[in-house]
Amino acid sequence: MASALLIDKYDRVARDLRVSLTDRCNLRCTYCMPAEGLEWIPTPLTLSDEETIRLIRIAVTELGIRQVRFTGGEPLLRKSLEKIIAATKQLQTDEGLSPHTAITTNALGLERRAKGLKAAGLDRVNISLDTLNADHYFQLTRRNRHADVLRGIDAALENGLTPVKVNSVVMPGINDPDIVDLALFAVRRGLNLRFIEQMPLGPREQWARAEMVTAAEILTSLESRFEISAASEPRGSAPAELWNVVDRLNPKIAGQIGIIASVSHPFCGACDRTRLTTDGAIRTCLFSRSETSLRDIMRAGATDAELADIWRTTMWAKKAGHDIDDPNFIQPQRTMSAIGG
Ligand code: GTP
Ligand code: 5AD
Ligand code: SF4
Repeated sequence: MASALLIDKYDRVARDLRVSLTDRCNLRCTYCMPAEGLEWIPTPLTLSDEETIRLIRIAVTELGIRQVRFTGGEPLLRKSLEKIIAATKQLQTDEGLSPHTAITTNALGLERRAKGLKAAGLDRVNISLDTLNADHYFQLTRRNRHADVLRGIDAALENGLTPVKVNSVVMPGINDPDIVDLALFAVRRGLNLRFIEQMPLGPREQWARAEMVTAAEILTSLESRFEISAASEPRGSAPAELWNVVDRLNPKIAGQIGIIASVSHPFCGACDRTRLTTDGAIRTCLFSRSETSLRDIMRAGATDAELADIWRTTMWAKKAGHDIDDPNFIQPQRTMSAIGG
């Protein structure tokens, strides 16, 4: 029934739900969180497992969601992650399938969890790794955990959590010299690497449009080592634009690399996302400055149908785009860590 879907007034249909399972993280990436002083959302204000699973069920069985991605903060810090994935996998989408499941993780501890996550029904992982240089990793994340991430990537590959995508935010003056090395590593290992333009969603002083490393600059760095051509596959609603790359020094090293150019080439027109925060609010966009909380009405006894209706009404009002280039653009109150990326 078409009217049951999450449609907005620009005719976009949300099929992809991103659920933040915690605002906490064991890293402190400069583009996402301040070094200290960020207050965690108090536990009583966050959704329980049962409340989280209920809202995912409503999204999948009543609102047309087909893919569920779990984010954080760091989703591996949620002890019940496996239980929530298993419950999600039990559901049936409007196509009669179980929903596709994914997590976006910093991979700390993934080495130990990968097997169990696969058994719970996790389909694939996106792993954040901005550099192969351990010193630069420390500068970016303020923690010395580079080796754990590499072990997490191995575990994801070994346990078939594939395709393994790697997210690399390019920060001026820190990891921009590391682009080629990371690209070679990814292509050799069969990882789907995506370089990401930094967005204004972390601590306010961390982002400056004029200093941000743009997609065009990332391509120029890649061209210093690779033969590059645009990939022919249709992009759909994916944030990454894909490029075929062939190593000029060894043409056997060939693959694809993505670039997520949210700032210089926004892809809002094709957006198919809806977001649920760990404290139970729907966000229509990463950059929304208002949210609709489902938590309190759920706790006051709202029915599934009532919750679904509020979700539909909220998504109908989704804005056309993020407006980062508007001189009046104001960053959302929540940092990326509390939105979930
Ligand atoms: P798949 O393509 O389904 O694997 O996932 P994804 O790339 O959408 O998700 P992921 O969590 O790996 O995010 C990669 C980057 O894209 C991060 O920097 C996200 O913040 C960014 N991103 C994810 N969703 C959106 C979105 O809706 N809008 C914008 N502008 N950026 C997004
Ligand atoms: N701009 C772009 N991407 C970001 N991420 C975190 N903060 C930002 C930002 N300010 C990425 C992380 C992770 C995903 C959830 O979002 O690297 O891969
Ligand atoms: Fe969607 Fe907002 Fe991202 Fe644009 S900025 S793609 S509208 S979530």
